[in-house]
Amino acid sequence: MSLATHSRTAAEPHAVASTTIRVLTGDRPTGVLHLGHYFGTLANRVALQQAGHDVLLVIADYQVMTDRDHPGDLARVVNDLVLDYLASGLDPQRTTVFVHSAVPELHQLMLPFLSLVGMGELSRNPTVKDEIAMSGRSSVSGLMMTYPVHQAADVLFCKADLVPVGKDQLPHLELTRSIARRFNDRYGPVFPLPEPLLGDAPVLLGLDGRKMGKSRGNGIALRDRPDEVAAKIRAARTDSQRDITFEPQRRPEVANLLRLAGLCAGRDPAELAAEIGPGGAAELKRVVTDSVNAFLEPIHRRRSGFDERDGHRLLDQGTARARALAVDTLREVRAAMGMTYESAGVCLR
Ligand code: TRP
Repeated sequence: MSLATHSRTAAEPHAVASTTIRVLTGDRPTGVLHLGHYFGTLANRVALQQAGHDVLLVIADYQVMTDRDHPGDLARVVNDLVLDYLASGLDPQRTTVFVHSAVPELHQLMLPFLSLVGMGELSRNPTVKDEIAMSGRSSVSGLMMTYPVHQAADVLFCKADLVPVGKDQLPHLELTRSIARRFNDRYGPVFPLPEPLLGDAPVLLGLDGRKMGKSRGNGIALRDRPDEVAAKIRAARTDSQRDITFEPQRRPEVANLLRLAGLCAGRDPAELAAEIGPGGAAELKRVVTDSVNAFLEPIHRRRSGFDERDGHRLLDQGTARARALAVDTLREVRAAMGMTYESAGVCLR
């Protein structure tokens, strides 16, 4: 996969044509981005933006508290995340990045949305069930059960057409569509139904063979230096069979490393396996390390061209734009619901 540079100089930030698709995705600010995110959704976000679409990114800071007591060092994590976006190739002139806590009108959408969902469907959501199980906590908070409704507000406030997500987010998008449909049925047409866009890359496991997670430390971060990458891959799990073969069912850890190298080098993992063959795990790890480091090099180069001030500027611009969109949508929602008492909506500005 080749990463384009910032050659585009948009005459006006966010000037978009009428055929433009509006794309919204988001991340929880729980840590730095890793290669799983890159191939899962970041690559799609960059490609959609390069195709001229309107890409919005929500940093879902309130969502961080779903499975923990404290949101952590949000200022640092959010700064790092914004720089990861820029390093990945999102165009600073055209990307709308914002933290949802800075857009109060977005949250107000949650009230009517909550009235459109049932307790049963909230408690059946498979992703929420997994998160509850993984959190290891004895009680489940109201936020845990309702954050998918909150996420519907993240998507619908800007009337997004397309939501590039990982597979685990599909139940949330289905709920978002239900909410949009039910709102339109009850109050009149306000929301388009957003479509999911799944990355075509296979899901990458962490280097320990478990799901790759920001907070699990088992992935390769976009910012990892070459020596850190080498150390992580050296410590990655393989198996005791000498010859390297690509057999995802029987040899998941080896297959995962082959996939990782394949994605980074734009190669077929089975072909790589055939080339490595009797070279064994040592040769496999050398190939993976080289491919990952070669892939990360342009990302690191791009990152070194940005500093924290660029990140802050991006967030300020993004928040201003997101807020203007949210104000408009909330005004429409209130009008549809018959909540128009004050003159000219003055209370909303
Ligand atoms: N729940 C998503 C995650 O954990 C993050 C997210 C928040 C999101 N709001 C969103 C994703 C809106 C897509 C659209 O990765």
